[in-house]
Amino acid sequence: MRLLVTGGAGFIGANFVHHWCQAYPDERVVVLDALTYAGNIENLALVERRENFRFVQGDICDRSVVDELLVTENIDTVAHFAAESHVDRSILGPAAFVQTNVVGTFTLLEAFRQYWEAQKKPSNYRFLHVSTDEVYGSLGPDDPAFCETTPYAPNSPYSASKAGSDHLVRAYYHTYKLPTIITNCSNNYGPYQFPEKLIPLMCINTLLGKPLPVYGDGKNVRDWLYVGDHCRALDVVIHHGKLGETYNIGGNNEVENINLVQILCQLMDELASDLPVSSAKHLITFVKDRPGHDQRYAINANKMKTQLGWTPLVTITEGLRLTVEWYLTHPDWWKPLLSPEYQAYYSQNYS
Ligand code: NAD
Ligand code: TYD
Repeated sequence: MRLLVTGGAGFIGANFVHHWCQAYPDERVVVLDALTYAGNIENLALVERRENFRFVQGDICDRSVVDELLVTENIDTVAHFAAESHVDRSILGPAAFVQTNVVGTFTLLEAFRQYWEAQKKPSNYRFLHVSTDEVYGSLGPDDPAFCETTPYAPNSPYSASKAGSDHLVRAYYHTYKLPTIITNCSNNYGPYQFPEKLIPLMCINTLLGKPLPVYGDGKNVRDWLYVGDHCRALDVVIHHGKLGETYNIGGNNEVENINLVQILCQLMDELASDLPVSSAKHLITFVKDRPGHDQRYAINANKMKTQLGWTPLVTITEGLRLTVEWYLTHPDWWKPLLSPEYQAYYSQNYS
């Protein structure tokens, strides 16, 4: 395969590139990433010197860049991760979400369609669209988990923009028979996640002795998926997924936010030396809730299991320990990310 990975310098994209380069060292991997605040070339340091690897800084909304890459690199598979991905930022500034997530996905689809048609529609071409469970909206405590046929009901500008992109991908399969597949996954965690997201935020703030802000009553539930399990799932979908289908990918790990933060505090107490405040749980601070905060997400990943033989392997206990250890041993990675821009966002969001 000759792979174009959009957003490959972000959290999941970079983990996916690492996975792919290790599993298929002879295959060409080209990353297209705009290096927004969330993109970081350091995330690709492990692979950047490989002969089969190329990084291109560019915007998925820039049609000429996308056209050129598809042709010159003779791409047959697109793995599309590039997005604005943080719900809180989508509340503060939704425009970038519509631009990248909707217009950017449309630009890629159009470019890929014309390229695929010009090549006489080869049957091995693939367009994998990586999306989120948040498009399905919010669950009550006793509702069944989201499955692939759950109606869309996005509640935030982020999830609405991802839903819009999913609809475009679906339409390109139905109208043009473009060889697309959509995946909707639950909350990922693991190495290389940008500090603004819940798990890295809690690890980093504990190390800095800063408050651990828990929204509302902390009883919102998320279904946590270790990023390595997610990357394996995407590999299986690319190789064996059925065109035009949607696959839900989840970790079978529903946890209330406050419980998750308490587990993280215990891990920090155990694994970190010289914490500014111990025990870490003394830093937990309940703060004003996120507007429109979805109560619960849960994924039913039975289709991935029964049709493609994939199940998550990393338990939440193992995954959180691996993740905490990673943040503890990589201050050189996360410290430069706490930039003035990040501090400005932080003040605006948490003030
Ligand atoms: P991320 O924010 O860490 O990374 C996004 C990457 O996309 C960054 O490298 C950024 O520079 C790049 N990017 C943004 N706009 C771009 C543009 N216009 N052109 C080119 N590159 C651009 O996001 P992530 O957490 O790695 O998420 C990857 C994908 O997975 C996203 O589509 C997201 O919606 C989806 N997803 C994420 C999660 C999660 O828990 N992180 C859960 C479900 C779905
Ligand atoms: P997040 O990592 O932003 O993912 P998402 O909103 O896409 O699920 O947040 C995970 C959960 O943690 C979500 O319920 C919001 C909550 N949260 C906090 O309580 N405090 C925080 O500072 C952050 C960033 C999130």
